[in-house]
Amino acid sequence: MATSRLAWLLTILSSLILVSALLALIMDARTTARRLRIQASLAAAQRESRARDEFLAMLGHELRNPLASIFNAVFLLDRAQAQSADWKYARDMIERQSLHLKRLLDDLLDVGRAVSGKMSLDLQPLDLDVVVRSALDMLASAGRTPGRRIDYRGASVWVRGDRTRLEQVVNNLVCNAGDHTPGDGSIELRLAEVSDMARLTVRDYGAGLDAETAARVFDLFYQARQPVHRPKSGMGIGLTLVRRIAELHGGRADVSSQGPGKGATFTVTLPAIEPPPVMPQLERRSDARHRCAVLIVEDSEDARQSLRRLLELEGHRVHSAGDGASGLAALLELQPDIALIDIGLPELDGYDLARQARAAGVRTRLIAISCYGLAEDKAKAGAAGFDDHITKPASIEQVLDLVSQAGCASQSGPPKPGVDPA
Ligand SMILES: Nc1ncnc2c1ncn2[C@@H]1O[C@H](COP(=O)(O)OP(=O)(O)O)[C@@H](O)[C@H]1O
Ligand SMILES: [Mg+2]
Repeated sequence: MATSRLAWLLTILSSLILVSALLALIMDARTTARRLRIQASLAAAQRESRARDEFLAMLGHELRNPLASIFNAVFLLDRAQAQSADWKYARDMIERQSLHLKRLLDDLLDVGRAVSGKMSLDLQPLDLDVVVRSALDMLASAGRTPGRRIDYRGASVWVRGDRTRLEQVVNNLVCNAGDHTPGDGSIELRLAEVSDMARLTVRDYGAGLDAETAARVFDLFYQARQPVHRPKSGMGIGLTLVRRIAELHGGRADVSSQGPGKGATFTVTLPAIEPPPVMPQLERRSDARHRCAVLIVEDSEDARQSLRRLLELEGHRVHSAGDGASGLAALLELQPDIALIDIGLPELDGYDLARQARAAGVRTRLIAISCYGLAEDKAKAGAAGFDDHITKPASIEQVLDLVSQAGCASQSGPPKPGVDPA
């Protein structure tokens, strides 16, 4: 009896073991299937993200090249002789519209990086008051807030921030306030330290927002409804960038409004820091221009020729080359004070050019001029042997400054023909 009960128990036990082993197998198979599915969708997402990054980089490259040439052309036009009223009108229009295109392109590329988490910041201790003032100066000199009274009151508050990005925040908020304020309206900016946070407010007395709009203005591509002729341009990107930049600094961006017609107040708060013991100065442009021997390596004919001409107008001696191999040959032979080298060159690209030049002992100051402006691109340029990196379309002032800061001994001989006869 006892034996048969034992056998019965053993049968049940072994069936249980069998069932649980089967269950475990099924679970395992399911987990494996799920893991494979997750891996596949992760790989697809990575492929998609890579394709998007590549597309944005290509878009930047394709659009920045022509813009760089147009800006150079404007600079050259300024130096030309006959300057009639029509000439001036056309010149100003080209500059205005290409600046507008540049801003749209920059915002589009930035927002792509911001939403995909690829925006990296160049953080350093900054006095936010200095940053706000310099952004307002730039907006005023670019005529971006015509007729508006800008009233700024700020105290010195230090933050760890990326200067360019924080200027972008101020630009976006002030331009928005200007866009939604009648011609003679005023825009008030206040900066103060409140509970260990730097608090910047931008207030206008214009169109205002209803609660539904206020809840959505920071969404990507969101714009309040406009008449069909779209009196206000823009792509609904600015405030997304403002909030993302604030968040990347460990802060936030918010809006409040009493309602339509009652104006709006945008607030950005960022963690404040103690002022550093030695105040770092914001970069100052040196007006001292030296005569330098410059080599330009750039495959775009227009970009190369226009850059060459404007540097020559400034009194520099310029050689140019249209591809990597002849650029390297010129660099080795001439050893100029400074070389401005495009990264996207056919065959021998800018990085290889710099690496080979450094390996051959060239001590020329090497500046990468590239359409790609991410921190990793700059790091890559540094690793290849470049001393500095600028993103197209670089401002002419920026290029001239870099050249004159090269500390040119300018002992190199007279221009040797044959590199680029044009
Ligand atoms: N100061 C403001 N007053 C009223 N509405 C505003 C203000 N700033 C922004 N908005 C609203 O938020 C939307 C999104 O702004 P933004 O992201 O800067 O894009 P854009 O300026 O290109 O339209 C605007 O289209 C507008 O509807
Ligand atoms: Mg805007």
